[in-house]
Amino acid sequence: MPALFEPFTLKGVTLRNRIAVSPMCQYSAEDGLVTQWHGPHYTSLARGGAGLVVVEATSVSPEGRITPADLGIWTDAHAEALRPIVRSIKAAGAVPGIQIAHAGRKASANRPWEGDDHMAPGDPRGWETIAPSPIAFGGNLPQAPREMTREDIARVRADFVRAAERARDAGFEWLMLHFAHGYLAQSFFSIHSNQRTDEYGGSAENRGRFLVETLAAVREVWPEDRPLSARFGVLEFDGRDEETLAESIDLVSRFKAAGLDFIDVSMGFSTPAAKIPWAPSFMADIARRVRAETGLPNATSWYISDPEAANALVAEGKIDLVMLGRPLLADPHWPYAAAKKLGVDKPSWALPAPYAHWLERYRAG
Ligand SMILES: Cc1cc2nc3c(=O)[nH]c(=O)nc-3n(C[C@H](O)[C@H](O)[C@H](O)COP(=O)(O)O)c2cc1C
Repeated sequence: MPALFEPFTLKGVTLRNRIAVSPMCQYSAEDGLVTQWHGPHYTSLARGGAGLVVVEATSVSPEGRITPADLGIWTDAHAEALRPIVRSIKAAGAVPGIQIAHAGRKASANRPWEGDDHMAPGDPRGWETIAPSPIAFGGNLPQAPREMTREDIARVRADFVRAAERARDAGFEWLMLHFAHGYLAQSFFSIHSNQRTDEYGGSAENRGRFLVETLAAVREVWPEDRPLSARFGVLEFDGRDEETLAESIDLVSRFKAAGLDFIDVSMGFSTPAAKIPWAPSFMADIARRVRAETGLPNATSWYISDPEAANALVAEGKIDLVMLGRPLLADPHWPYAAAKKLGVDKPSWALPAPYAHWLERYRAG
């Protein structure tokens, strides 16, 4: 069996293979609630054969949404509306996961296909954004956020805890904290966005405090037998990457001590000036290093679309799971195509039985 199709067990959860659906905002919610878009979307991804389906960045509060069309989980009604999605992911044989998030200074934006920029000041659909320091991201997101008070910090941490409780009660079995991509948690860690002079700013230890405290508080309510993961941007491609990476690896070790089970290695996206070396699998060696130095099982994403490359990353021990985004939007049945390409015996069985049974006969001719 190719490594990509080996099961993966973490805590009380077993994935049928190493293919995970990376969280991807659909910008199709109404008041944070799922619409008719989401059910078929997540169901088809699960039926496509992935082992883990991580539901998109789901905001812990209304102000934490990137756009007004983001999913949320700030009331019990939001969580209740996600339950059918949990059930259909499980019915297709995948493990249901969810990413909980707060967008910080990147919130209050238009949808990507409607500008991808901050809504104009005074736009009735927009809202005041918050962040560790009143520094704008720049570029398409020019508005400066309000600096968070200690009360704000405590409130957002509590919002993450309530969101985790609701995700738990809705039946999600894998939780991912969004600590990446320049959103609120990442912006505490990044020197591009945090110039605080209290215990949440300054040293790497202080800049990591909000993340560690949030993670530790979530761990108290998230069941021990269900994996707690985080997606974290370990570097910025801003010219000081060795230093940032060393600080990040220290912080991931602190996450582990606070109860993290799994790390999804990504980038910081904290400055529009970043020079990102886009190339197939370009984050894989960085992810391998984070795993080697922290001892945490790991994943990464970004331009891994070739089945042989994906399989090699797992077989060589660089990553435990491959997080796929756009390749699965293009073809939710990518796992079936991969199984064929990698020479899996009876590849149709990468899909659920109502598809697999017929496709195997069809393949055999
Ligand atoms: C439409 C879209 C929405 C995304 N939304 C999220 C998100 O909600 N949370 C997140 O951490 N990353 C998000 N990402 C990043 C993906 O999870 C993934 O890391 C990225 O697309 C790289 O993987 P790929 O090259 O396989 O697409 C999004 C990407 C896309 C294309």
